[in-house]
Amino acid sequence: MTRHKVIFDTDPGIDDAMALLFLHHHPEIDLLGITTVFGNASIETTTRNALVLKSLWEIAAPVARGAGHTFNPARERGEPPAIVHGDNGLGNVTLPADFSTETDPRPAYRFIIDTVRANPGEVTIVAVGRMTNLALALGEAPDIAGLVKGIVIMGGAFGTMGNVTPVAEANIYGDPEAADVVMTAPWKVVVVGLDVTSQTVMTRTMLDQLAADGGERARFLRDVSQHYMEFYSRFVANGIMVHDSCACVYLVAAELFTTRSGAIRVASEGVADGQTIQKPDGRYFPPGPWDGKPSQLVCTGIDAPAVLALIHKVIARR
Ligand code: BDR
Ligand code: CA
Repeated sequence: MTRHKVIFDTDPGIDDAMALLFLHHHPEIDLLGITTVFGNASIETTTRNALVLKSLWEIAAPVARGAGHTFNPARERGEPPAIVHGDNGLGNVTLPADFSTETDPRPAYRFIIDTVRANPGEVTIVAVGRMTNLALALGEAPDIAGLVKGIVIMGGAFGTMGNVTPVAEANIYGDPEAADVVMTAPWKVVVVGLDVTSQTVMTRTMLDQLAADGGERARFLRDVSQHYMEFYSRFVANGIMVHDSCACVYLVAAELFTTRSGAIRVASEGVADGQTIQKPDGRYFPPGPWDGKPSQLVCTGIDAPAVLALIHKVIARR
């Protein structure tokens, strides 16, 4: 059995919560840590939510609090998207008051550096929020790029529409400078973006079935997902896009995805602010900002029914 050592960098977040339960229940995944970042809510709220989920689901991995502001301090991004994830980041469901508030003493970027150095060649970072913690870690310790096994990112929109602007996806738009640092670093990045996650819709019926098969933990997921489903009714009938879980599935079942290789840059100004742009390998263009940057993989296709079935199977496993 392949074993995957994982740091989960996250902004819980409703679809983040589902992804966390997938990682926690998957038999081949050793969750080494949960690092938080601002995004779906403030850093105080996403960290509190990570701690609540850790207690509720009896997750052993520590929670390290991460960035509460963009990589470039001059950039402002406004209020968190309560319309999507609720004011409390978890669908405005009343959360348990009784949970351990203990976090790792280190900030997230330091936790990432130490954990990667302690497990050379073994750690995959699954990053499903803004890329701020990863960019800070790289800035402090560039050597970690050669020490991680890989990075799997939920973010970006390549051949499809964005979800914050017509070209930009939320995790990238929230901190484009950080995303550009991460995409152009000499480590192996796989980007699981809206091209594939927007096709991966868990219907209300599927979510109810998951709650029926998966016990209390899955019932909690169904409850927090109701607010998210209301938001998603603008785009899909009676269902939710399970963005962050798709990145976790890639880690254990890459054969369910098709990918394209090429350097990626992230625009950080003007109408294209937050757009992710890949120059496919082997395609001729005149000299440009992709030259000399490492090739990364972008997911261009997905077997959505198989991905949804795997999410069900793993989460319902108790
Ligand atoms: C991404 O943005 C957040 O709202 C979700 O948690 C997901 O990571 C989708 O664009
Ligand atoms: Ca997220």
